[in-house]
Amino acid sequence: MKKNIIIAIDGFASTGKSTLAKHLANYLNYIYVDSGSMYRAITYYALKNNYLPFNEENLKEFSKILLDVKLSFVFNKKLGYSEIFLNNNNIEKEIRSILVSNHVSSVATVSFIRKHMVNLQKKLSLDKGVVMDGRDIGTVVFPNAELKLFLTASAEVRAKRRYSEYVNENVEVEYDEVLNNLKSRDLDDSKRKDSPLIVADDALEIDNSFMSMEDQLIFVKSILKDKFNL
Ligand code: CDP
Repeated sequence: MKKNIIIAIDGFASTGKSTLAKHLANYLNYIYVDSGSMYRAITYYALKNNYLPFNEENLKEFSKILLDVKLSFVFNKKLGYSEIFLNNNNIEKEIRSILVSNHVSSVATVSFIRKHMVNLQKKLSLDKGVVMDGRDIGTVVFPNAELKLFLTASAEVRAKRRYSEYVNENVEVEYDEVLNNLKSRDLDDSKRKDSPLIVADDALEIDNSFMSMEDQLIFVKSILKDKFNL
């Protein structure tokens, strides 16, 4: 029987981590977990319930209610991947808004929130093969992951990709706003004290600025075959 492995995909904002992760999970019949969607969901909850901006007082309140906020993933057969639910409501669309994007990286600096997320993420993998993407998957969540990938691309290429996604979804947003959001999240994610975005020593770095998603997938599949016989 083939061995199930853990594939950790980290990298800067909008580098195509989730696209690659979804394809790999389908290809290997593994679970796919978008850890960023969990931080986005908590941010969405905090916004909706007027906790943001955090201060000493409301942060204390938030720490008390966090365990009662129910996050779950439900597999969508049509789409071929799981969608995130907050207290039993599908919030996939809501969490991708620019408002959530503008707040998520500051929410993700809070240590008790990270601790809770990491606990949930570890539980989600169980004994099955898993592909998880985020910022600290190869360094904190699964330091023993068999395959660690770290994706990068120039900020302009990434902003163009994210901007055209918004345009396709008829979301009104300026290109500059998207670019600034990516740059400021990259900075916040890399500079934070708890679990900063860094390349794990044993991660393979892929700069996909000039690589198509298809070529990237072919490349990673070749690694799976050569290294893991998958
Ligand atoms: O899709 P995109 O690359 O733009 O971001 P995401 O994966 O949805 O993550 C949103 C934000 O959540 C990131 O900018 C980080 O601030 C935070 N995050 C994190 O701190 N740790 C993770 N494992 C995943 C996301």
